[in-house]
Amino acid sequence: MALSRITVLISGRGSNLGALVQAARRGDFRGAVTHVVSNRPDAGGLALAREHGIATSVVDHRAHGTRDAFDAALRDAVDASEPGLVVLAGFMRVLGAAFVGHFAGRMINIHPSLLPLYPGLHTHRRALADGVRLHGCTVHYVTPDVDVGPIIAQGAVPVRDGDDEASLAARVLAVEHRLLPAAVGWHCEGRLTVADGRVRVAGAVAPADAALIAPPLSPERLSSS
Ligand code: GRF
Repeated sequence: MALSRITVLISGRGSNLGALVQAARRGDFRGAVTHVVSNRPDAGGLALAREHGIATSVVDHRAHGTRDAFDAALRDAVDASEPGLVVLAGFMRVLGAAFVGHFAGRMINIHPSLLPLYPGLHTHRRALADGVRLHGCTVHYVTPDVDVGPIIAQGAVPVRDGDDEASLAARVLAVEHRLLPAAVGWHCEGRLTVADGRVRVAGAVAPADAALIAPPLSPERLSSS
C-alpha cells in the first residue's frame, strides 16, 4: 500500500508538525508529510519543514482581501500538493464552509482542550480560571463549525496546584505530540469510520477502563471497589 500524502497547515512554531514528521520517519504510520502550508511567512514550522526537505508554501492571509479569497488561494495551494490527508496543526485561521466541504472526511485538527469544553482560543487560561482538575487535547475531523467535528482521540492530563498557563500548556503539548501521530496513523490505515457524528477505530485495543483521577486518590480509596 502506498504511503498517504499528508499536507500539514501551520501558523506557528510547528512542534506538532515536528512530532508528525518524526513519527512518519520512524515508520510509525503509513504516511509521509509531503507538504507544509503556512498562512504566516515567519512561522517557525516552515524552517523545520525545510530542514527535513519537505516542500513548503505560504498563503499569507494579509495578502487577500476577504476570507473567501484567502480560502480559495489556500485550497489551490493544498490541492496542488495532492494530499490524501490534511492536518491542521496549530493553524490559527477559521476556514469557511466551502473550504471545509472540499476536504470533508480528509481533514483533521488538533485542539488543546478536552472538547466540547473550551473550543476557540486561550484554552489553558480558561481551564485554569474554571478550576478544572483535568484538561487535555482532542484530535477531530474538521467540520464547518469550529472545534466541534467528530472526535477521533483525546488525551487528558491533571491540572496541578500552582500550574500557570505555560506549565499546563507544556503538559498538554507533550500529549498532543503522541495523540496526533496516533490519530493520523489510524486514518492512513483506513481504520476510522464516522457514523452519526461518532468515530469508530477499527481494531482498537481493549477498551480503556483505567481512570485518570486528579488529584490522585489515596491507595485505600482506589482499592475500595
Ligand atoms: C497546539 O497547542 C495546538 O493544539 C494548537 O496550537 C498549538 C500549536 O503548537 N492548535 P505547535 O505549532 O504545533 O507547536
